[in-house]
Amino acid sequence: MRLLVVGANGLLGSNVVRAGQQRGWAVSGTYHSTRPNFDVPLTQFNLQEYSTFDDVINEHGPDVVVNCAAMTDVDGCERNPEAAHVINSEAPAGMAARCEQAGIDFVHVSTDYVFDGTARDPYSETADPNPVQVYGESKLAGERAVQDAMETALLPRLSFVWGIHRSTGTLSGFPAWVREQLQASEAVPLFTDQLVTPTRAGQAAQTVLTLVEQASSGLYHVACSSCVTPYEFGEVLSAHVGANSNLLQAGSTEDIDRAAARPTYSCLDVGKVAEELGREQPTLREDVDAVWNALG
Ligand SMILES: NC(=O)c1ccc[n+]([C@@H]2O[C@H](COP(=O)([O-])OP(=O)(O)OC[C@H]3O[C@@H](n4cnc5c(N)ncnc54)[C@H](OP(=O)(O)O)[C@@H]3O)[C@@H](O)[C@H]2O)c1
Repeated sequence: MRLLVVGANGLLGSNVVRAGQQRGWAVSGTYHSTRPNFDVPLTQFNLQEYSTFDDVINEHGPDVVVNCAAMTDVDGCERNPEAAHVINSEAPAGMAARCEQAGIDFVHVSTDYVFDGTARDPYSETADPNPVQVYGESKLAGERAVQDAMETALLPRLSFVWGIHRSTGTLSGFPAWVREQLQASEAVPLFTDQLVTPTRAGQAAQTVLTLVEQASSGLYHVACSSCVTPYEFGEVLSAHVGANSNLLQAGSTEDIDRAAARPTYSCLDVGKVAEELGREQPTLREDVDAVWNALG
């Protein structure tokens, strides 16, 4: 299988590169500002100039393209909606159309932020999206435009992504910050009024490539099976780090002023992907155990 990872230097993208290599696939990638440290063919590619995607395809000749690149700065999207729309919607649609034409499979990664957070049970793939900020709107528009361009596109939605960046080998995202604070014996203020199903990037990358192997298409929620607050996530981490859990402090999303609104509930129901793969999805504890060596 010839796999092209768009956004190979992102947290998820770097894990998809690694997962493809582990399968023995011929992996290539694109990067935007920073070239990752992978021994695979790499091309610089800006989603804002997506008409050049043709050249990327001609250069690498993939069987499947996995788009992990996005404008992921939620507040930045609020301040620059035009760029958010191009990067998160127009460009993915353009790439999907090109892949459809060339008979190449296309995977486009989306987000739990397509939901408004008013639910109290995990969102399934059939739940109605209703984004409450520009980032979510642009990502939802991207999902729809990709599906219009390619009916068989695979669209995994992730939530609260964390894990080891596979080019730098360092822990990224929320746990990296919590660990740093705990190890410095600094207080860690964590929300108790937000609920998420954290997605470990390595786990998501393996899941996405298995779905590709199974020729799955459409929406899949890919996350751990635990719906937790960031405070509860912090408790799991502090137990692993062996730190004093008194350093964890209960905080509220209302304590901070941010440009974009966030849903306070965005847990994803992972039943569909569990059924498709024939196995339960990991709990948060199992995911944290899986990267224990990096946390220790
Ligand atoms: N992070 C989360 O908590 C989260 C939650 C749910 C869903 N998701 C989705 O999961 C996917 C992967 O996210 P991630 O967590 O891996 O994010 P990430 O680490 O921020 O990676 C995003 C990548 O996109 C690239 N990118 C940004 N603008 C670009 C442009 N104009 N042209 C080409 N590439 C560009 C970035 O490259 P540069 O840094 O060089 O610009 C970066 O490598 C995204 O679709 C995101 O929407 C993320």
